[in-house]
Amino acid sequence: MRIEVILGSTRPGRLGDRVCRFVIGKAALVNGAEFTVLDLADHPMPFFDEPLAPLANHDRRPSAPVRAWLEAMAAADAYVFLTPEYNHAPPAALKNALDFLATEAAGKPATIVSYSTTAHGGALAGQHLRLSLSKAGMLPLPRSLPLAHAHRLFDPTGELVERSDWAPRVAEFVPASLRDLVEHARALKTLEEATTSGM
Ligand SMILES: Cc1cc2nc3c(=O)[nH]c(=O)nc-3n(C[C@H](O)[C@H](O)[C@H](O)COP(=O)(O)O)c2cc1C
Repeated sequence: MRIEVILGSTRPGRLGDRVCRFVIGKAALVNGAEFTVLDLADHPMPFFDEPLAPLANHDRRPSAPVRAWLEAMAAADAYVFLTPEYNHAPPAALKNALDFLATEAAGKPATIVSYSTTAHGGALAGQHLRLSLSKAGMLPLPRSLPLAHAHRLFDPTGELVERSDWAPRVAEFVPASLRDLVEHARALKTLEEATTSGM
C-alpha cells in the first residue's frame, strides 16, 4: 500500500513540519505500507485557472506542478491529510490543490489530522476538509483527534514532548488511525479488484 502524507501548510517555519515528523515516525510502526510525504510547498500551483471543472474537462492541459500533484495523488492508495486551521478552514493552498483533482483520488480512503496552536486543534478545518475530500470522491475515515496546542505537543524533531494527560492519547491515537487507514485501503483495493474482474 502506498500512502501519501499531505502537508497542507506551505508557510516558512510551519508547525506542520513537527506534526509531519511525528506522523512519519509513527507510520514506521505500521506494517505493509509505504508512507511518503507530499509537501504542497514542492508543488507551487497557480490558483485554479482551468476553463471548466476538472470532471467536465476532457481536454485538460495542466502545468507541470499541477500534473506532478495529480500523478502523485493517482499513484497513491490512501492519504493522510495534515491540516492546520486558518480562519476556521484549511489553508487556501490545500483547498486549491484539491480543486485540481478530477478522479485521481476517487474511491480511496483518507485520514485527517488537524492541528493548531489553540484549544480547537483545528477541528473546524478538519470538518471543512472532510466535505471537500468527500466531494473529490475520497472516503474520509471517521476517526479524528484534533491536535490542540500542537506547538507544545511536539519538539522540532517531531518527538512528543508534552507530558500532560492528553499526550498518551495522541501517542496511541495516531498509529491506530494509520493502521485503520491501511486496513481500509487494503479492503477497498480488494473490492475494486473483485469489481473490475467481474466477480
Ligand atoms: C492566517 C492564519 C489564520 C489562523 N486561524 C486560526 C484559526 O482559525 N483557528 C486556530 O485554532 N488557529 C488559527 N491560526 C493559528 C494556527 O493554528 C497556527 O499558526 C499554526 O502554527 C498553523 O500551522 P502551520 O504553522 O503549520 O501553518 C491561524 C494562523 C494563521 C497563519
